[in-house]
Amino acid sequence: MHQDLPPPPIIELIKVSKFYPPDVEALSDISFTVAKGEMLYLTGISGAGKTTLIQLISRMEKESKGVLDVAGFDLGKLNHRSIHLLRRKIGVAYQDFKLLPNRNVADNIAISMEVVHQKKSNIAERVRTLLEQLNLSKKYATLAGELSRGEQQRVAIARAVAHHPEILLADEPTGNLDAENTARVMSLFYQLNRQGCTLLIATHDKSLYRVGNRRIMELRGGRLLSAGPPLTTSNTAAPVVETLT
Ligand SMILES: Nc1ncnc2c1ncn2[C@@H]1O[C@H](COP(=O)(O)OP(=O)(O)OP(=O)(O)O)[C@@H](O)[C@H]1O
Ligand SMILES: [Mg+2]
Repeated sequence: MHQDLPPPPIIELIKVSKFYPPDVEALSDISFTVAKGEMLYLTGISGAGKTTLIQLISRMEKESKGVLDVAGFDLGKLNHRSIHLLRRKIGVAYQDFKLLPNRNVADNIAISMEVVHQKKSNIAERVRTLLEQLNLSKKYATLAGELSRGEQQRVAIARAVAHHPEILLADEPTGNLDAENTARVMSLFYQLNRQGCTLLIATHDKSLYRVGNRRIMELRGGRLLSAGPPLTTSNTAAPVVETLT
């Protein structure tokens, strides 16, 4: 009899902790696995450790203890010269955006594609498509420093996804958005997920994870309260209809 096997893990953390001097334990003993193709949410009150966890997975910060395996890389053994190989496979939409204020919107988005040596025509086409999807076409040539917070947030998301990452880490991706733009961002995320991208979305916004049958992980005081139900093929497959109301 044919039996569906769960997809292989693409993110795996084993007993990971992060300390900041002198005495902040931002994350304690975190273990979980994310399957390739999964879309899941990371929740928890302010200060719970969501951003820290995303920083460890993207290797912006180094763990103090434990093992992280991300997109086939053992992060503890990854040297400086190889970090770019990891970064090609992941996209990060930062909570504080990290845009280049003196470069225009199109340039900010193109950066993630230029580093993976995409053709100029591909880059231009991808930038145009993403701006359209995120309701920013008119801002193509505007300097990032002259955008509203909500516009900056959407540019940061477009930059994170432009190079078709295998994993997208999105940190409060809708924190500054109205309902219409939130729905646009989520519909881009569902589309990426249907195309095989694995998404980890840190959010306070219950309206995002109320929809669909997705795993929800909750952090409290740097500890993982729950990692959600065990992985099955059903929570890796995108529901047919999944829209925000
Ligand atoms: N660079 C740092 N140095 C010292 N402490 C830090 C640093 N970064 C984070 N922390 C501490 O680690 C804890 C977790 O912070 P983190 O930013 O991960 O929380 P969060 O869940 O993302 O919160 P929010 O919802 O407000 O974004 C907090 O107590 C914070 O003060
Ligand atoms: Mg945060």
